[in-house]
Amino acid sequence: MGGWTIGVIGGSGLYEIDGLGDAEPVTVETPWGAPSDTLVRGTIGDVTLVFLPRHGKGHRLTPTDVPYRANIDALKRLGCSDVLSISACGSLKEQYAPGDFVMVDQFIDRTFARNKTFFGPGMVAHVSMAEPVCSRLSGLAGDAAASIGAAVHRGGTYLAMEGPQFSSRAESHLYRQWGCDVIGMTNMPEAKLAREAELPYATIAMVTDYDCWRDDSEAVSVSNVLEVIKNNTDKAKKTLLALVENLQGTTRTPSPQGIETCLDFAMITAPT
Ligand code: ADE
Repeated sequence: MGGWTIGVIGGSGLYEIDGLGDAEPVTVETPWGAPSDTLVRGTIGDVTLVFLPRHGKGHRLTPTDVPYRANIDALKRLGCSDVLSISACGSLKEQYAPGDFVMVDQFIDRTFARNKTFFGPGMVAHVSMAEPVCSRLSGLAGDAAASIGAAVHRGGTYLAMEGPQFSSRAESHLYRQWGCDVIGMTNMPEAKLAREAELPYATIAMVTDYDCWRDDSEAVSVSNVLEVIKNNTDKAKKTLLALVENLQGTTRTPSPQGIETCLDFAMITAPT
């Protein structure tokens, strides 16, 4: 099962990472256009990291405008074996407080203005999204976050909304009734595209706010998100370093099995 080359997609507040040896900028063009920004590739021990700021440096791209297909394609072309997403999110449950990390394991995709597949027209594939997250990578990332002192919740359902506006109170209550744990604007279609690219995907959702469902807290705003993000970003960088340290010499065993060959059984278009 080859070594670890982890594509790290950094969300709001995470526009670079520290501690990479031989860090080099890499520009990639893809059939889907340019990725969000120049990528940075470097190594720590026997692990390679390829970092990509999802919104571009300076946060120029809206969640709708992020070139999700180009981003995943670029990571694949650079030889990434796995993708780790790090994103800010709102909390839909009392017990997930600002500053906490949620190791998401399910998604509800409510986005509607994005390209969500590498396939069609003319070539149709249906991959399984029953288990959208690689539990092995998610578990290792959760262990790393816990080791640096972050409050970590294992498992959780992430509601992906279109944005860029935050939710109305009625929407926030609805998503809570659906049993969702956190809400964000970017992990879909990223997770779907990673699966189509046969890349194991995991995500650390860093809670910045309580969205707008709580009677006794202020509704989410950019200023309260930014207030929490700074500290979260610091913890995310430390988590990455701890993760890479734990990965040294370990074997990759993506789970569920078959993520890396899922296209073998996904094509429905008749061969010509
Ligand atoms: N990102 C951070 N907080 C969020 C929220 N409340 N809703 C959607 N995306 C977010």
